[in-house]
Amino acid sequence: MSLAGHDEIKSVPERRSSRIGELAAKFRSGNATVGVVGMGYVGQPLAITAHEKGFQVVGFDIDAERVAALNRGHSTIRTIPDARIATMLLDRRFRATSNLDEIANVDVVIICVPTPLNKYREPDLSHVRRTAESVGAALRLNQLICLESTTYPGCTVEVVKPALEASGLRVGSDVFLAYSPEREDPGSKFRTSEIPKVVGADDPDSRMLAETFYGRLVDRVVPVTNMATAEAVKLSENIFRCVNIALVNELKHIFAHMGIDTWEVIDAAATKPFGYMPFYPGPGLGGHCVPIDPFYLSWKAREHEVPARFIELAGEINTAEPLQVVAALASALSAKKRKSLNGSRILLVGVAYKRNVDDLRESPALTIFRQLEAKGAAVSFYDPWVPVIPETREFPQLAGRSSVVWKPESFGAQFDAALIVTDHDAVDYRALTRSLDLIVDTRNAMCGVPAQPDVVVKA
Ligand SMILES: NC(=O)c1ccc[n+]([C@@H]2O[C@H](COP(=O)([O-])OP(=O)(O)OC[C@H]3O[C@@H](n4cnc5c(N)ncnc54)[C@H](O)[C@@H]3O)[C@@H](O)[C@H]2O)c1
Repeated sequence: MSLAGHDEIKSVPERRSSRIGELAAKFRSGNATVGVVGMGYVGQPLAITAHEKGFQVVGFDIDAERVAALNRGHSTIRTIPDARIATMLLDRRFRATSNLDEIANVDVVIICVPTPLNKYREPDLSHVRRTAESVGAALRLNQLICLESTTYPGCTVEVVKPALEASGLRVGSDVFLAYSPEREDPGSKFRTSEIPKVVGADDPDSRMLAETFYGRLVDRVVPVTNMATAEAVKLSENIFRCVNIALVNELKHIFAHMGIDTWEVIDAAATKPFGYMPFYPGPGLGGHCVPIDPFYLSWKAREHEVPARFIELAGEINTAEPLQVVAALASALSAKKRKSLNGSRILLVGVAYKRNVDDLRESPALTIFRQLEAKGAAVSFYDPWVPVIPETREFPQLAGRSSVVWKPESFGAQFDAALIVTDHDAVDYRALTRSLDLIVDTRNAMCGVPAQPDVVVKA
């Protein structure tokens, strides 16, 4: 009898538990290879964290240019310095590839590919589906697969699990599957490892392996009963934001009619040490998460014939917000300068979807830009984070438009009004008042900036 494989003289359950134990030990010691599929805003910080925790890391992406940039030591995300990618390359514990067959060589596969909405505003799972099929095609015994893309409860079981099992391997015994929502907040002060990680799995071995892996990666793991619960956690977090932002935008319109400053109200209310959490009004929702994720749940709720009225209403209010901003600008121009939008020269200050990032996805600034142009305004923009507007699906006509040079002393001669859409820290708001006599502010960025009466209008 050959004893080359010691396993051959063990019973099947013994063999199984010893290989699962070996995988868990690799996770505990950091002696495993981590594959991150989707090297975007979520994947790059995750890869960096896995590398910091001692793992060997392979970054997978279908975007060959992104892969080449990473292998040259360039981050493709402005909030991630190139040096952080270069450091990973230096000790040869990181490389990127477009060859998804190499998934066979890693111990854990983390999937963080996009989950947008299609043109009917329904979940577009094409990226998750395609990735799951690629992983299924390369799958081998004893790998852990974790989906991190935001999705509706039931998606990992309905979409990812069958694609993996098409390989002939069984989830829960041959390979392991978990869902762990991503809470990355680009540009925020939190390191990935400091943000607690919710982890759900549907069988005990997948749960143990996922908790062990993430336990090495982050300071605190929050286990939940199953994958659907973990999926629901992520959507709840973003729906909470979406609904509260809609509420505060509605309050802003009500209070404006009463001559009350909403920002002052919020700051005073926030002094209550319990039962209140401040949310701030703005020009509408942006980014890859809050404007999109809630519709993953309302879509799934329809299948269960349960109404999702709050979600739909919040979506309606937030979607209307950019148009309300355009209306506020039009009435300020008319009241203060006896001008209409048609023929006015408008400077948008900030086009990224939030402060201190270069991300334009779903940015309300783009809707405002197009609406103003459609009404005959001549629109320019200034954004220290976005020198040129990239290609976007919804606004291809804006691609290639460049930020104006920062010359605030000449803005008064160039523009009839400035509209602050994004409140980047790097903008000198005081300088705007040097020559402009109308500044419409959607973010309270001019708070505390001395200006002539009536120059600043909150919208
Ligand atoms: N951006 C955030 O702040 C954030 C926060 C929390 C959760 N999320 C969620 O994380 C997921 C990823 O978001 P993101 O912002 O990192 O997206 P992203 O667009 O920045 O990056 C996704 C990457 O996946 C790659 N990709 C697409 N299909 C692929 C495939 N089949 N195989 C390999 N690579 C593929 C793309 O080329 C891209 O580089 C989404 O579900 C999103 O909702 C994002």
